[in-house]
Amino acid sequence: MFQPGLKGVTAVETKLSNINGEEGLLTYRGVPVQQLVENYSFEEVAHFLLHGELPTGEKWVAFNQSLKESRCLPDYMISILDNLPPELCLMDVLRTTISSFNTNNIGDNNKIALQLIAIFPSIIAYRYRKMSNLPIVKPDMKLNHIENFIYMLSGKRNELNAKILETYFILTMEHGLNASTFSARVTISTESDMVSAITSALGTMKGPLHGGAPSGVIDLLEEINTEDRICEVIHNKLKNKDRIMGFGHRIYKTTDPRAESLKNTIIKLNELPDWMSLALKTEQETIEILRKEKPNYKLYTNVEYYAAAIMKTLELDSTLFTAIFSASRIVGWCAHVIEQLNNNTIFRPNAQYVGE
Ligand SMILES: CC(C)(COP(=O)(O)OP(=O)(O)OC[C@H]1O[C@@H](n2cnc3c(N)ncnc32)[C@H](O)[C@@H]1OP(=O)(O)O)[C@@H](O)C(=O)NCCC(=O)NCCS
Repeated sequence: MFQPGLKGVTAVETKLSNINGEEGLLTYRGVPVQQLVENYSFEEVAHFLLHGELPTGEKWVAFNQSLKESRCLPDYMISILDNLPPELCLMDVLRTTISSFNTNNIGDNNKIALQLIAIFPSIIAYRYRKMSNLPIVKPDMKLNHIENFIYMLSGKRNELNAKILETYFILTMEHGLNASTFSARVTISTESDMVSAITSALGTMKGPLHGGAPSGVIDLLEEINTEDRICEVIHNKLKNKDRIMGFGHRIYKTTDPRAESLKNTIIKLNELPDWMSLALKTEQETIEILRKEKPNYKLYTNVEYYAAAIMKTLELDSTLFTAIFSASRIVGWCAHVIEQLNNNTIFRPNAQYVGE
């Protein structure tokens, strides 16, 4: 049976996460993500996804230490980052630099995963600051993974911003067989290698229908600009058959729980930024319009809608959005690659011939 986009097809078994799209529930290894966000750090949840247990004692110290020690960029990567054409977007740069990652002396896939997780923020921050003509900031081993990322990007330590970004990282690090994770699993299923699988995933993540959506949300809100224009802009987009960025999801047929958590994170802040009121009003009116215009589909806000809000709260440049999403999803990609290898069958679906 032909299923465009493999809609509704179950292609793998996984113990990593479960999505209940009708009820809007997401669990990692059986634990609701909201519970993980409230009680654990990025490092702990990453360990939980990769190894199936929350780290304690010596394991925790070793995992944390290795993550910190793997932040420094090797010279060959710095040379690539310095020499890639300036017009390349950050996702192209990230994909190219990661594909050069030399794993020869690292060891097994668990160790490679850890180094990849550690190095993503360093690549992003280095290239971003270089392109912005800002002095490069070296990693600070005293800071945790997210605090260090904020520090390397902005040159300043900011615990509140790190906490907000950590919420985003935990909520987005894993999400079943999304397009980029599927890419990673397809590549590793040929018994290729982890770096190739992650490079595939990065290429897939770049697309506007997947990881590129938050920039589209900012464009949308900038186009709307004032609350009285919401209706007109959304109707025009639907008339032109444009997608409303940040709405709709293949699996969620109600509000994406990650969007809800991110929204609450921003609402809890002392001062609600101006554009947040616009985002909230736009969400409300757009859902009403979509309900009338596309009654056969349940279209609600997805994670990208409020990811854009988080990025704006943190005053992060929109050129960084998809790369930052990748720096969190790398955890899920690595966990899926390891899971695929533990019970591998090469992906090779059929194509239905419709030609002459
Ligand atoms: C995420 C997405 C690709 C999932 O799509 P999907 O489950 O494959 O659904 P389809 O593309 O088959 O769309 C089904 C119907 O809903 C409509 N639809 C889905 N998302 C829509 C959106 N954001 N705006 C307007 N219409 C949308 C489609 O036009 C289609 O209607 P039609 O049959 O009348 O043409 C889709 O919702 C989308 O493009 N969203 C915008 C991009 C985005 O926010 N991506 C981030 C995802 S986390």
